[in-house]
Amino acid sequence: MPVRMPEPFRIKMVEPLKTTTREYREHALRQAGLNPFLLRAEDVFIDLLTDSGTGAMSDRQWGAMMTADESYAGSKSFFRLSDTVQRLFGYPYTIPVHQGRGAEQILFPCLVERARSRGASTPVFLSNHHFDTTKAHVEIAGAQVRNLICPAALDTARHDDWKGNFDLQALTTEIELTGAHQIAAVVITITCNSVGGQPVAMDNIRDAASMARQHGIPVVIDAARFAENAYFIKQRDARYRDHSITQIVWEMFQHADIFTMSAKKDAMVNIGGLCCFREDQALFAEAQLRCVPMEGFITYGGLAGRDIDAMAVGLEEACDEHHLASRIHQVTYLADRLQQAGVPIQTPVGGHAVFVDAGKIRPDVAGHHFPAQMLVNALYLESGVRATEIGSLMMGRHPVTREQEPALFELMRLTIPRRTYTDNHMDFVADSLIEVVDRAASLRPLDFVYEPAVLRQFTARFKEV
Ligand code: F0G
Repeated sequence: MPVRMPEPFRIKMVEPLKTTTREYREHALRQAGLNPFLLRAEDVFIDLLTDSGTGAMSDRQWGAMMTADESYAGSKSFFRLSDTVQRLFGYPYTIPVHQGRGAEQILFPCLVERARSRGASTPVFLSNHHFDTTKAHVEIAGAQVRNLICPAALDTARHDDWKGNFDLQALTTEIELTGAHQIAAVVITITCNSVGGQPVAMDNIRDAASMARQHGIPVVIDAARFAENAYFIKQRDARYRDHSITQIVWEMFQHADIFTMSAKKDAMVNIGGLCCFREDQALFAEAQLRCVPMEGFITYGGLAGRDIDAMAVGLEEACDEHHLASRIHQVTYLADRLQQAGVPIQTPVGGHAVFVDAGKIRPDVAGHHFPAQMLVNALYLESGVRATEIGSLMMGRHPVTREQEPALFELMRLTIPRRTYTDNHMDFVADSLIEVVDRAASLRPLDFVYEPAVLRQFTARFKEV
């Protein structure tokens, strides 16, 4: 019998969960306009909406919060954070920010300005795939995004170790056709959230970065799930089997110039982010200038000293191999249970979530009737489990033509917070979802009652059609 891996922690504090009836949930979801984002969290039993800011902090993190320094400028907490960044990533220039999008809002306008000063008329960002807030901040800064994900990622049934990879041929062509001077940055998202938390190979990071560098294009890592990406490299690339996670992390980041990070994921804080620079002191200074009015003074960036210290400790804990093994094991456990029951998912499973292929479950439902959102709603009604849509709803409309942007897939994301739920919870999620998928033919398509202009998924309201 295979040995099941126990979690490398024990539980010191618990938070009770509320159980509800189906009737109660029907009322709650109706009140929320058939959009689980608008539910009260207390009406959710197991919350798999996101892994962002929802992990459990460790006793070391809570301890560090007690000894944090709340000075407005130049706090000890800031220097502990910046020393940790220097040690783990080799980046000497650190700006703390309130979360990932805080980094995006101070960095991207600087990159756009720089591209314009070099003659770009319509600056473009190239990425394996931009996360939705990343895309939004590129567009707010007056630039455009292009996603250049490898074709393997688009076939959820096909096994490929590196579905987060750039299509390097497409990257070459894009640089040639668009012109290097138009490109504000190449953004490498590790792991690639939008296609299923899929890892990017070290070779792909190196090759995409060196292609950008040959043309003088800055390379940015979107580092929310950097440690999970490093763990996959260790597992799947034989050359790294004997490397430590910190060695792999160090190497990944040497290929880039800048990184933005939502520390709410791998770094396991409830709030926090980073915007860090390896060499470019001029760009660092420009981003600091923007930080002051947008996020706060350059050594606190919208955070309390205690948040900053919790982040410094969390960055180190993120790289703990036992933690990573247990974390990925739990995600794989849920994926295996679903696959054994024939539920189509993005395979192999990624780092932070199981992505269920709703397009395969209800191929008859067009993207603009949101097949994945239908499943999300049905799962909530069935069991009180809250998931989220990654598909046409999230893609939104083209900023100019207002046409629905074609989505790569219609996915339902079951996102697993770190150190928060047990495998018993995963069994309950699996059993509930298998029930829902069995009778998915009876679910009704959705249409908008209220459609926000951007980032629709958060506040839209729906009706069944
Ligand atoms: N980049 C990636 C790859 C992300 O997944 C996220 C957030 C961000 C940037 C923005 O960071 O939320 O701290 O401002 N992803 C969350 C999610 C919200 O649910 O996937 P943020």
